[in-house]
Amino acid sequence: MSVVLGIETSCDETAASVVVDGKHILSNVLYSQVAMHEKFGGVFPELASRRHLEKLLPIVDLALKEASMTPNNIDLIACSGWPGLIGALLMGVNCAKSLAFAWNKPFVAVNHVEAHLYAAMMDDEEIVYPCIGVVVSGGHTALVLIHELGRYEEIGKTVDDAVGEAFDKVARMLKLGYPGGPKIEALAKLGKRDAFPFTSGRVKEKPYHFSFSGLKTQVLYTIKGQNASPDAKWLIQDDQIPDIAASFQEIALGGVVDLALKAAREYGVSHILVGGGVSNNIRLREIFFERGGSDFTLHYPPFGLSLDNAAMIAGLGYHTFNLNKKSDSLDFAPHPTNKGLLF
Ligand code: KG4
Ligand code: ZN
Repeated sequence: MSVVLGIETSCDETAASVVVDGKHILSNVLYSQVAMHEKFGGVFPELASRRHLEKLLPIVDLALKEASMTPNNIDLIACSGWPGLIGALLMGVNCAKSLAFAWNKPFVAVNHVEAHLYAAMMDDEEIVYPCIGVVVSGGHTALVLIHELGRYEEIGKTVDDAVGEAFDKVARMLKLGYPGGPKIEALAKLGKRDAFPFTSGRVKEKPYHFSFSGLKTQVLYTIKGQNASPDAKWLIQDDQIPDIAASFQEIALGGVVDLALKAAREYGVSHILVGGGVSNNIRLREIFFERGGSDFTLHYPPFGLSLDNAAMIAGLGYHTFNLNKKSDSLDFAPHPTNKGLLF
């Protein structure tokens, strides 16, 4: 049995979790900073780092307590190492390294985006490899062929915004607040999906790449007309906002689903894994079902593991440590991007 303490601080969630053997979650504690960042319309990086610093140790304590564990029981400490906000990552990485040093335990830093996909492996269903992985988060949108855990081949990615970022930006245009995804999803339930004829972005000669900037511009022009100033008068009425939300959501998510299913068919796989904050969206799951029906087995993160969390970090950390068979160096430095690697 291997007990892993996971730490997540790549953006605006301060999180710690205790997971056994990569799968059995004993605790999953999260302090969301959303209320603090909301008034800025997005994450304020410096404030996020400071809040992580204040909250991290109490959150780690709570995660141990809820799991009925003491530092002695912990076999490994895992944290998000990249990509993310660099100041925020530094807090989690330095906390993980300090605890590893103080408790004399090994430590691994993992890729936050890979961990989002790993979250979809934490359901109870058996996964048949190779399978298609679909990352839909606020920072990344990508399609990968997963040969096995840890062995990935990129098929496509976004050439501009990530899908969650597009949700956040459209929500800002509609003055719905941050984070936009859940707000758009809630409003979309009240609107007509075909009210506005938005179209999905395609990238010439890259059939599996995504583009959301054109869709975003279509929404902006619908709200304010072309070449409008930021404070231009709206061309739409307030009661049309749910229709915009529903029409945008349908095209944005439909575009992701269509490419994921096309890839799954072309690569002859039977299982599809979907991870990242946008996988929380119920309409995304419906569209997958409507268009893929019973042709594929879909894996989603279990409840609470779609958005940023530390259980997916602990889970992936367990496997990373088993694959590498060694602790990362205490010289490890976090990185804001994916370091030129696939994720
Ligand atoms: O994966 P995540 O928690 O953080 C990143 O690693 O980026 O994803 C956050 C993103 C945000 O853009 C948020 O608006 C989006 O996921 N999101 C959603 C929903 N819940 C969160 N997008 C659409 N529908 C949702 N229900
Ligand atoms: Zn994330």
